Amino acid sequence: MSIAVMTSGGDSAGMNPAVKRFVDYALEKGESPFLIYEGLRGLLEDKVVPADKARVSGIIHRGGTVLGSSRSKDFRDPALRPWAYDNLLKRGINKLVIIGGDGSFNAGRVMSEESPIRVVGIPATIDNDIPGTDYCLGVDTALNVIRQAIDDIRDTAASFGRAFVIETMGRHCGYLAAVSALTSGAELCLIPEVPYDLASAAKRMHREIRAGRRYAIAVVAEGVGGCDKIVKWFESELGMESRASVLGHIQRGGSPTVFDRRMAFLFATAAVDALCSGQSGLVTVAHGGKVHLESIQTIATTAYQMDPYMLKMVARLST
Ligand code: F6P
Repeated sequence: MSIAVMTSGGDSAGMNPAVKRFVDYALEKGESPFLIYEGLRGLLEDKVVPADKARVSGIIHRGGTVLGSSRSKDFRDPALRPWAYDNLLKRGINKLVIIGGDGSFNAGRVMSEESPIRVVGIPATIDNDIPGTDYCLGVDTALNVIRQAIDDIRDTAASFGRAFVIETMGRHCGYLAAVSALTSGAELCLIPEVPYDLASAAKRMHREIRAGRRYAIAVVAEGVGGCDKIVKWFESELGMESRASVLGHIQRGGSPTVFDRRMAFLFATAAVDALCSGQSGLVTVAHGGKVHLESIQTIATTAYQMDPYMLKMVARLST
């Protein structure tokens, strides 16, 4: 029987190094590896091809995913799912690695429960919002994209004596904004997980302005809902000329950092080992720098919570 890999959901840097390691390691173990193009949609549409070294050469430094990805609603339809299973089983594939986020793992959980296909997930999303793991592929690369952007914006903010409100991605989770604010020395950080108090933040900022502050950096997570009101707040409450900068999808791109390539190697190795030893219904997770396996059922049914210490540090910048 053979083994396949797919990337699914929002792309992130680190997916390509994980695909490459998957193919190299599967071949090393004497397995026949397959590639599924365009995620769950591609699986339903039978976009499954045998993998060889040539197909994954020259991809380790590339962002995004060379396999393509999708967010497929069709897989939620129980009448359509047997097509997906048949597309694997007719090629002798009974083992699958899914590189993606919580939606993809939910599909993986269903597949491992209702078909003979064994499934192991690898967490990959720049939001870093998958429960049970400290790390998801792509986060370090995205944080470095944001760091570079904030460093560059600081140059113009300092030159003009302006406040900049920088919006990071994170529809439901403020992890990128929190880490970026703390590591870039931002004055203000607003994330969905921490209630903010602009009246009290204004008092703090006024003290800093009296002490000589000429410019300011605010980092706001997408999930807080628009940075225009914070731009207006800087102008009306603090008398600081202000501009917004929405970083958007540049945060999803970029060559994977060394850290992302290393985690991709460790996750893909653990996923192939688990499947080849007969295990299923698992996700590779990172804790304290080590990779472990966690039940996909637990991960799919647990709510993500950010580290309480991080939330405490952000609270200092939200009031
Ligand atoms: O990759 C995660 C994420 O970037 C979220 O933070 C963001 O809201 C969302 O995906 C946007 O993705 P898309 O444009 O693909 O819908």
